[in-house]
Amino acid sequence: MRPLIAGNWKMHGLRADLKEIESIAATAAKLHPDVDILVCPPATLMAEAARIAGGRVAIGGQDCHTEASGHHTGDISAEMLKDVGASAVITGHSERRRDHGESNALVAAKASAARRAGLLAIVCVGETQSQRSEGDALSICGGQIVASVPTGMTEADLAIGYEPLWAIGSGRMPTSHEIIQMHAHIRKCLVLHLGPHGKSVRILYGGSVNPADASGILALPGVGGALVGGASLKAEDFLAILGSAPSVSSRRLDVA
Ligand code: PGA
Repeated sequence: MRPLIAGNWKMHGLRADLKEIESIAATAAKLHPDVDILVCPPATLMAEAARIAGGRVAIGGQDCHTEASGHHTGDISAEMLKDVGASAVITGHSERRRDHGESNALVAAKASAARRAGLLAIVCVGETQSQRSEGDALSICGGQIVASVPTGMTEADLAIGYEPLWAIGSGRMPTSHEIIQMHAHIRKCLVLHLGPHGKSVRILYGGSVNPADASGILALPGVGGALVGGASLKAEDFLAILGSAPSVSSRRLDVA
């Protein structure tokens, strides 16, 4: 299983910032042939980002509508993302769940839409600080997996982003033990939910991933890559994180 390092630009980026994608594309693919590299810029930059990336770096969306087209002012469908060169889309990021009241059922419908359009869906789950303090982190994330991932998905059309809400943009991170424990739990839920395909779906860690900590996180058993927010905005930082990804041959994807 190839690690996936995905950058989520969120609501950042003007055309001048496309030079970062140009820099990433110029070096990333030849430096890290064993790693799947994805950048998810805002929708306004996607077509140009895909052109610049030239297939050396994959381009993804940050959200999609459940339908292919229709009377939905301001929304963008998975088919439209695919049309401008996307190969993936993030669904159910906690900021969309929070800002737009997205439910697990809606996230699942968006993941289905991604599959329909031929995109990889990166379905995000994660607990709040108080849920972790109450000892509910595993059950919350397990519940989100079951309710946000449509049955029938496989490693070809699905990756999971585990992003504790309290770690996003905060500079705080779970301990290695907490990450290993959560990824093992998510793996167990995926196998129960999806059958054998659940064994091969990549589970990415996200939340304050930075160049200094990336190699430690990416080496943890069960971690199949990273979802990177702030540190994906500058090519130098993102390339440093990419450089931390272990080679495929040295990967241990599951806790024995
Ligand atoms: P962060 O964001 O790396 O800035 O914490 C991660 C994310 O929300 O995807």
